[in-house]
Amino acid sequence: MEYRRFGRTGLRVSRLGLGCGGFGGVGSEPALFGHGEDEATAFAIMDRALELGITYFDTANSYGGGRSEEMIGRWLRSRGTRDEIVLSTKVFNRMGQGPNDGGLSRRHVLRAVEDSLRRLQTDWVDLYVTHEVDPETPLDETLRTLDDLVHQGKVRYIGASNTEAWRLAKALWISDRLGVVRYDGVQNEYSLLRREIEAEVLPLAADQGLAVTPFSPLAGGLLTGKYASGREHPPGSRLTLRPGPYAAMVNEGTFRALDALRAEAAELGVSMGALALAWVRCHPAVTAALIGPRSLEQFAPAVESLQVALTAADRDRILHRMAAAREA
Ligand SMILES: NC(=O)c1ccc[n+]([C@@H]2O[C@H](COP(=O)([O-])OP(=O)(O)OC[C@H]3O[C@@H](n4cnc5c(N)ncnc54)[C@H](OP(=O)(O)O)[C@@H]3O)[C@@H](O)[C@H]2O)c1
Repeated sequence: MEYRRFGRTGLRVSRLGLGCGGFGGVGSEPALFGHGEDEATAFAIMDRALELGITYFDTANSYGGGRSEEMIGRWLRSRGTRDEIVLSTKVFNRMGQGPNDGGLSRRHVLRAVEDSLRRLQTDWVDLYVTHEVDPETPLDETLRTLDDLVHQGKVRYIGASNTEAWRLAKALWISDRLGVVRYDGVQNEYSLLRREIEAEVLPLAADQGLAVTPFSPLAGGLLTGKYASGREHPPGSRLTLRPGPYAAMVNEGTFRALDALRAEAAELGVSMGALALAWVRCHPAVTAALIGPRSLEQFAPAVESLQVALTAADRDRILHRMAAAREA
């Protein structure tokens, strides 16, 4: 496994991060709390990740309604692996019914971090990520609170997720002006099918020395080629359980683009999933891609992808081939 500096910090993370969003649920969707991987499967996935040298684990307080953090906490305790793991969790999503049970207010963040540390059975997290933007809380309130957490030793570094570039630039400016901790990483979606971050977020990250740790590099599994036009989705698959985030992508143009990716992968002698993961990892601004295997078998494309090195020209060729097929 290759390790890379987390942005301009001294922290080093594995080039693949283990997404733990499927432990005890499917992300933060309340209707699916209690679904997803059970604890035995989650433990097996974490064991395998660590064997492969994947030491960067990504979770959130809201994944599985807290179950993901609880499973990680029990795994860290039972395996004695806390010091080997770069542990990242998030705050923002609603964790109760009250008016202050979500968002990025000082009140909620201070409460949420204690709850996360308790579930994770640790005194500190390496990375604390604001899961979404909160337009109702001033950025300076959130950043001062995160600064307090760093000084209290509960958090080592902070990151932002699902943010626009302008808001992230404003946050960096506020941190600078206030002399408080600044975001050192950004976690937005990035894949061959979702490239919004290329326009503004990636250039900002490169300019400001931010780590970039994209989520959903396989577009929820679409890029593995497991879904086909006119065929029922496989039972229990992401698109059957949680179709919402992918609805706009599932169309004939996308399936033609996926056929082009399949052809490209065949010519290179790799699987589609491995090529799609390598495409994300090989962007020079990308620090680590967050993968979401649901079983030991699903690690295969991730492992394979580490052997695939793509140049800028290779990445462009794949994009153009997919775009041409989409428009055909
Ligand atoms: N910050 C945020 O807002 C945010 C949002 C989303 C995710 N994340 C983080 O990023 C992590 C990864 O996101 P993601 O799960 O969306 O990533 P992803 O890699 O795009 O999708 C994972 C899904 O792809 C399918 N898959 C993976 N390997 C496969 C294989 N070898 N063959 C066939 N299907 C395969 C599985 O679908 P099936 O379920 O159909 O088997 C799996 O659930 C999450 O766990 C979480 O930590 C963060």
